[in-house]
Amino acid sequence: MHHTEDMDELMTCRLDHVRKAVEPCTLVIFGASGDLTARKLVPALYHLSKDGQMPSDFRIIGFARREKSAASWRAELREALAAFSRSQPVDEPVWEAFAQRVDYCQGDLGDAAAYAKLAEHIQSFPTPELQQNLLFYLATSPSQFSVVAGHLHEAKLLHRDNHGFWQRLVIEKPFGRDLDSARKLNHELTRFAHEQQVFRIDHYLGKETVQNILTFRFANSIFERLWNRDAVDHIQITVSEKLGVGSRGGYYEEAGALRDMLQNHLMQVLALVTMEPPVSLDAEPVRDEKVKLLSSLRRLRPDQVAANVVRGQYREGFVAGEAQAAYRSESKVNPQSNVETFVAAKLFIDNWRWAGVPIYLRTGKALPLSASEVRVQFKPTPNVLFAAQCGPLLDANALTLRLQPDEGISLRFTGKVPGVGYGLRPVRMHFSYDSEFGAYTPEAYERLLLDAIIGDATLFIRRDEVEQAWEIVDSIRAGWDGLPLDKREFYPAGNWGPHLADELLTQSGRAWREPRNP
Ligand code: BG6
Repeated sequence: MHHTEDMDELMTCRLDHVRKAVEPCTLVIFGASGDLTARKLVPALYHLSKDGQMPSDFRIIGFARREKSAASWRAELREALAAFSRSQPVDEPVWEAFAQRVDYCQGDLGDAAAYAKLAEHIQSFPTPELQQNLLFYLATSPSQFSVVAGHLHEAKLLHRDNHGFWQRLVIEKPFGRDLDSARKLNHELTRFAHEQQVFRIDHYLGKETVQNILTFRFANSIFERLWNRDAVDHIQITVSEKLGVGSRGGYYEEAGALRDMLQNHLMQVLALVTMEPPVSLDAEPVRDEKVKLLSSLRRLRPDQVAANVVRGQYREGFVAGEAQAAYRSESKVNPQSNVETFVAAKLFIDNWRWAGVPIYLRTGKALPLSASEVRVQFKPTPNVLFAAQCGPLLDANALTLRLQPDEGISLRFTGKVPGVGYGLRPVRMHFSYDSEFGAYTPEAYERLLLDAIIGDATLFIRRDEVEQAWEIVDSIRAGWDGLPLDKREFYPAGNWGPHLADELLTQSGRAWREPRNP
């Protein structure tokens, strides 16, 4: 069979699999007036409809405090699509058909009567599936998660036993602010729903390139056998962002880079890159392996934090030629704030495969460019043959998984420069999503919403996973001990964090790899 026919066949299998499992249902979005709904959720639902992936019948109800009619909410969503949809212009017939299924329910999240009204609304739908297969999307402030779940339970919209139908809660981050609060939240939610009904979002898991980590590792034979302490010198994971905190200062003051990015996105990428092969690709085996990995990440004692974790905060500067104000002068930020906008860490995984291999993570705002990538740096060869030409340091092999942008994978190796003699130089092999699959990449939220509708929890975070990740973050915070930032912890916007972050690697003769934008 021709190569592309083969590929088409595989894709068709996946689509058939999805179609079979999508049952008619009602989605209720709490926090319907918010940014996430406009920017991500509704464009994702619209695209799923456009691509024929939504159930044969569905309803969407926006729930929020503001008084407005269904018609005016639809008009807002139509505008949001024009601004944020990944495909333009908006397809009018698709939008019209979609909009007919969209409704609005005004209410206060803490008001029992509002949930009674919501229940009544849902009961007015024509089929038992639309009345009882219910997906509740909690795009609200975290303090409301258990309030909403409790009210849904009281209004008999959320049941622990399903009688042939299903109800699910999709929960946005942040899931707690430390281990204690996450445990408490988990405990409260399980009063109203089973763990299997709770879908905790980490939108990084919806990214194609992040899902491809497991495929790359376990559907190929040549890399996995090198994926261990014998062959790997160290691993670097960078998630850098050009932008400052912008209008999110209020949220960020409560979070900081550690809670905003490292607790979730970086920990998830780290787990996928380093976990053992699961016994199958079902939700529980995959999540079991992630939990095992996170539990073998070495916890730092408070006195070890300074030597292994660097925090930073951006001062004013220039990012790619554009002026960027200091974090402390951003709106809704305390002018004396000690919140970190950058964090870099050197971590160790105490298991058989990775013992002794440093894992470096870094993430921050107002950095020189936006890029997320994983670099697996292999050990050098014994340099007995080329020492005369290259000196003692022959460039070692490295594999870079570019998660975004310029999605792809590169392998760096040493080649001979053509010509007389033995000039050597690093060269690369590239795989690029764009040239292999075309520019089409679904948004993370499309995949995640569809999986939540189907009930596939593989790409959602399980209770014990979230708790493990908080334990690591808490161990770092304990080392910072509420101390103010030191002079050396500030970095001018547009730099790769404070110098201390470089020293984390240079002290052992290593260096960060600078991601390059295409
Ligand atoms: C969010 C963080 O979870 O992820 C933001 O709250 C961050 O601060 C964003 O900007 C990054 O996501 P992406 O998909 O743009 O890499």
